[in-house]
Amino acid sequence: MGGNILYSRGVENTQLVSDVQRLIENLGQLPEPVAEPVFIVVSGLPGTGKSYFCSQLAERLPVIILESDALRKTLFSSPGYSSQESLRLFRACHLLIERLLKKGVSLIFDATNLSERYREYLYSIAERLDVKLVLVRVEAPPGVVYERLKARQENSETKSDADWKVYQRMKPSVQKIRRNYYAVDTSRDTTPVIDKIVRQVSR
Ligand SMILES: Nc1ncnc2c1ncn2[C@@H]1O[C@H](COP(=O)(O)OP(=O)(O)O)[C@@H](O)[C@H]1O
Ligand SMILES: [Mg+2]
Repeated sequence: MGGNILYSRGVENTQLVSDVQRLIENLGQLPEPVAEPVFIVVSGLPGTGKSYFCSQLAERLPVIILESDALRKTLFSSPGYSSQESLRLFRACHLLIERLLKKGVSLIFDATNLSERYREYLYSIAERLDVKLVLVRVEAPPGVVYERLKARQENSETKSDADWKVYQRMKPSVQKIRRNYYAVDTSRDTTPVIDKIVRQVSR
């Protein structure tokens, strides 16, 4: 971990270990471990339908969903979304992902994952552990996102606090995925892509 910008050695490690422990305690039921777990990473702006898509996919595959918005609230009961808070959250997510995959637990990482430099770290976990990596870019037309985010704000079930302002602020951070990926437009029927992913994973 030494050379990565997200990591520095020292006292912080104690916090990292206890954060991961807290996340593990709150994960709920894990799928049965398998010999060849799969690591699915979704990427997309708020409101594009990542979490919705992940739950659809999870109905078809034995995976656990790691939703960054939910994990953030496990670590920070009233999140402030500072860069420091996010850094602490994502360090914990990385270690959690690694631990689960090592145990043979397949997972979907549901986070915006917009920057390639940041995603590189996820690619390297997959390579290091030699697990199958599936990348999904989730999109929807801005007009659809706008309406969805407006409606989502009124729904208390969501784990996300992101609204249209956050969407607009994050839009310039979107970077092209420099690997093979599935593209999903969630304003259309997502079944064909889900079928493809299920087929690839089961191969
Ligand atoms: N394919 C879809 N069909 C209908 N509604 C959707 C679809 N995808 C997302 N939504 C709705 O749009 C809102 C935003 O979707 P969500 O999955 O929370 O986005 P994200 O996780 O990318 O921020 C939610 O209220 C969700 O129920
Ligand atoms: Mg979400």
